[in-house]
Order: sequence, then structure tokens, then C-alpha cells
Amino acid sequence: MKLGVCYYPEHWSETMWADDAKRMADLGIAWVRIGEFAWSRIEPDPGRFDWSWLDRAVDVLSAAGLKIVMCTPTATPPKWLVDANPDMLAVDSRGAPRRFGSRRHYCFSSESYLRESARITRAVADRYGKHAAVAAWQTDNEYDCHDTTLSFSENALLAFRAWLSERYAGIGDLNRAWGTVFWSQDYRSFDEVDAPFQTVTEANPSHRLDYRRFSSDQVVRFNRRQSDLIRELSPGRDILHNFMGASTSFDHFDVARDLDAASWDSYPLGFLEQGHWDAQTKARYLRQGHPDFTAFHHDLYRGVGRGRWWVMEQQPGPVNWAPWNPTPLPGMVRTWTWEAFAHGAEVVSYFRWRQAPFAQEQMHAGLYTPDNREAPGAFEARQVAGEIGELGSARTSQAPVALLFDYAAKWLLDIQPQGADFDYFQLVLEFYAALRRRGFSIDILPPDASLDGYRLVVVPSLPILDDALVGRLSSTKAHVIVGPRTGSKTGDLQIPDELPPGPLQKLLSLRVTRVESLRPGWVEPGEFGVSRWLEHIDTELPPLAKTASGHGFWYRAGKLQYLGAWPSRDLADAMVAEAADGAGLPLLELPDDLRIRRRGDILFAINYGPEPIDISSCLPGAATADYILGDRVLPPAGVAAWREA
Ligand code: GAL
Repeated sequence: MKLGVCYYPEHWSETMWADDAKRMADLGIAWVRIGEFAWSRIEPDPGRFDWSWLDRAVDVLSAAGLKIVMCTPTATPPKWLVDANPDMLAVDSRGAPRRFGSRRHYCFSSESYLRESARITRAVADRYGKHAAVAAWQTDNEYDCHDTTLSFSENALLAFRAWLSERYAGIGDLNRAWGTVFWSQDYRSFDEVDAPFQTVTEANPSHRLDYRRFSSDQVVRFNRRQSDLIRELSPGRDILHNFMGASTSFDHFDVARDLDAASWDSYPLGFLEQGHWDAQTKARYLRQGHPDFTAFHHDLYRGVGRGRWWVMEQQPGPVNWAPWNPTPLPGMVRTWTWEAFAHGAEVVSYFRWRQAPFAQEQMHAGLYTPDNREAPGAFEARQVAGEIGELGSARTSQAPVALLFDYAAKWLLDIQPQGADFDYFQLVLEFYAALRRRGFSIDILPPDASLDGYRLVVVPSLPILDDALVGRLSSTKAHVIVGPRTGSKTGDLQIPDELPPGPLQKLLSLRVTRVESLRPGWVEPGEFGVSRWLEHIDTELPPLAKTASGHGFWYRAGKLQYLGAWPSRDLADAMVAEAADGAGLPLLELPDDLRIRRRGDILFAINYGPEPIDISSCLPGAATADYILGDRVLPPAGVAAWREA
């Protein structure tokens, strides 16, 4: 467990660097990330490089004992480059090219930009790849940020056609897969296929899903080009990318296969303000962030990084980009840092060292104020640095529960929601929160992961279910919860011959013959009121729950439970309880604002609420624990940790 910070030496007078570096080291910071947006200062004119300032910055930081995360500056191509290669700009869904003046103004399918990005990556990696202090790399910055994965440029169109001709044996095959007989959409060759945008009404869903798959593959290709170069020129250093919260437009598991570890940028208050929660929830957690959202991403990115992950950017105070930007509760920056460590983070790095007095992010807090004094985040970071001590060596172990997360499921359900509020991400969070409320530590895995060693597996929804996963679900010793719309589509986005849940019928004899979505406010009465989504199910199995009008929507066959409805809080809780009971897993009843997480034999407890919680009433062992952090009465924003017997 180490601390880090994001630093932009080019934003400050060189006379400040040595003092900044010393203060970082004194604060207990081990890692410093630089270079991220510095292209126009590294290469002020085409082919003319100015390394002098960056050489000196690297020297000053390393002289203070800091380890450097060097970045490729490709999220901010300079003006001269854009002017010379106008075809590198992405085109939005209205057909308008995105313009210079902020960042991420490039198209993943532009060959000229791919070349330029490789050229600058090679230059930076050549220069610093073997420097003793450069110990890790970050590729680009936040793929997908500002809605930049999908582009409808001419470059993207040509690349899409090539991608299609690889995927399909011939145009007839594509016509069949997409069902182009419908509305007279037959194509005679791949060259006739367009990007699915600006159509009169919705474009063909299979066409759209393929465009999403293609766009995701373009991100993988772009990132791979950089990571291959860095690996060659900077051997032995970890390569990371800083992913985002609630970012689903490309397959992060795929991109991370070319990385050594994942990282993500954690802004709990910004995400709360931007999120889907009701006003009451937003008010309750205004200064803490949602109790499950940040944790979810920690678990997701641990899965994406195959066990290895960082927080590359940690919110240090108010941000500038949410609709409202409150200040964290005193102690919350410290607690967020511990929360990440509890979930297995190797490094938590604060964004940013000092608040910039100019340009787009001047309203965004740093660890230091613009006049170079410590802001509250710095006090809390120092406190964590002093606390890491014996906790630092704690190892992360496999959780008892696995949740399968699938990016393609998100794309498919966005393309065909069938109810305006059927959101895959929210659905996943409903199950995740239910597991957390019962005290489980959770691993989040891609659908092709091994299920060995898990006692409970949750598949919130997986519309395209392959036989291999059905095989793993049938052979696992775990109890399994499967959510709505699983197995409801083929890989081509068509209804399967045997009707949903398609291949899952092998394990569970039921057929979903009809589905209905319900407008907000409508609750179908019964033991569990059903809102949003209800499947009509034909089966001989006895339902575990049904509506007052007799529609069964919760079934169990052996260790497998199927839910044909949107999971209300009570329903998700009941399913988790049923599975845990079967699996012999102990269940806790945690108060609403309390969450726990195990890292090895250390148990962490966090109070996200505005009132103190006495955890000895709900956590076994808490009354007599030998506390490493905190105490049995957790104040708001408080964290406690102890070694379990
Ligand atoms: C991140 C981004 C940073 C900075 C930060 C502000 O999304 O990677 O460069 O903009 O947000 O919170």
C-alpha cells in the first residue's frame, strides 16, 4: 500500500519543483505521475523536441526519492498536429467533427493519429524508458472520457467495413445475422454498409451491436500499440491505464489484457451528483459518496487488472465537473484511501498536487491550495501515510462471492432496453449492494472467468449466454443467482430458437414467453411488489415468489435461482439470503450506512452515514477486537480495521 500524487511540473515555475518534491516525500508520498498532457511542451513544433524541462523535472522528483509514473501524452494532441491531420478528429453522432480546444479530440480509427500516437509514445519511452526512477507507465488518459469511444468518421466507417469482413464469412452471412430481410435492408457487399447513425428511426439492433463491438476493439488496438512500444523500450515496468467510473463504452477486460495492472480515477462525490440516485440518497451521502458505488469500481478494476490495480486519481476535495461540487466530510479523503486499500489497491494517488489557478480545472481542489499551502486533503493523506505501518503488507485473497460483469450486456441492453429505465449498470449495482449489505466481499469477473473456489455466483444479467458458461454454471459447486434477460439473445442479437433463457434451459426448465416493462410508479402487487420489469414464465417449477395475479417470477432448480423481474431491494436481499443459506455462508445484517470489506485476515468497516455507529452490535468480534484503525464506535466518515481471529 503506497500513496501517490498527480503532478504537472509544466504548470509551475521551475523554482517550485524541488520544494514540491520534498513536500511530497515528507507527506509520505511514494509515486508521482507526470507527463500526461504535456505534448505541446515536449514537441512544440513538428519534430522539434524539448526534453530539457522534463529531464530536469524527472531528476528533481527522483532526487527526492519519488518513483515516477510516466504517461504518454496522447489524450491531448497539440494544435499543429490537428491542423496537419484534420482527419484525426472524431465525428459525433450528429455528423459533426469534434474540435480542438479541450482534450481527447481524436478518433481511434484514424490511421494518421495511430501513427502519431505511436511516434510520440516511442519518443517518450526512448527517452525515459530505462531511467531508474521511471517505474511505471500510464497509457493516454481515460479512454472514453467526454464520450469519445464511438466515432462516426470516414476512417471509422472504412475500418468498420474491414472489421465486418473479418467477422462474417460473406455478406450473406451478415444479412442473415442482422436479419436484413426486415425493412428491405439487404446488402450486396460490405462496401454498402454504413455506420448505424442518423437513420430515420432506430437502426438495426444487430448492426448497432456490431458497431459497439467494433468501437471497443478499436480502443484495444490503440492501447495495444502503445503498450507494445513501452514494453519493448521500458522493460520491467508496469503498464497501466487510468479507467473511469461508470464507463462502459468499451470492454475494459479486453483493453487490460495488454496492461500489467488496471487503475481507475475515483471521484465519489462527483459520481454521486452525476448518478441515478434519488434526492434523498444524494442528500444523505452528499459529503461521503454512495456506500457501494466506489467499492463496486474497486472490485471491478481488481477484476479488470487480474488482481492488480491502483487508484490513479483520488478525489482530494471538491471537484469542478459535477452539477454540484460539495466538499468531503472531514476524514473522508482518508477513509476513501483506506477503502481502496481494503479492496486491494496497490497505490492510491491523489489528483492533484496543487490546485491550478488557471484554465479549465481552476475550481478543482488539490492537496495544496493555489497559494501553496496545505489543503485539508493533504492532512488526511499524511495521516494515512502514518497509519499504513503493519497493514501495508496485508494480502488480498479470493472473495467467497463472484459477480459476473459484461460490457457487451450493457451495450445490448442500451440498444434494446424495452423499458426506458432498464439499465444494466443499475441492475448490477442492485445485486452488488444486496451482497454488500449482507457483509460479503465480492470479486467482479468477466463472463469467461473460472468460477473455481466461489461459494456464490451472481449473474445480474447476461443476454448472450454461451454454452461454455452454461457448462461452468452447471459444474460449479457454488450457488448461483441469475437475473432477468439472461440467455434472451443469440450472439447476433436475435431471440434464441428455444426461447429465453435460451441455453440456460438446460439447467432450469422454464421458458420466458413474454416480457413487459412497467412505467415508474406502477408496482405489480404481491409479496414483493414488482416494478420496471416482469417476465411471463411458463414452467412446471413452483415459484418462490409470484405477483398477486399469479405470475411466478422467482424460481429455483437445485443451486440455481432465476429472477424474471427487476430486483427490488427486498427481492435482491431475499435471493442473496436464499443462496447464502444454501451455500452455508454466514449472513450479516448491517445498518444502512455501514459496509465492511476483508483484505486477507483484516476486516475493514466504514461508516458512510452522517451519524456515529456502534459496530459491536452488528459485527461479530467488534466488541473485543484489537483495533489497528479506529474503534468500535465509528464516527461519520470513520474507518476501523482489525485482524480477525
Ligand atoms: C479525470 C481526468 C483528470 C482530471 C480529473 C478532474 O477525469 O483524468 O485529468 O480532469 O478528472 O477531476
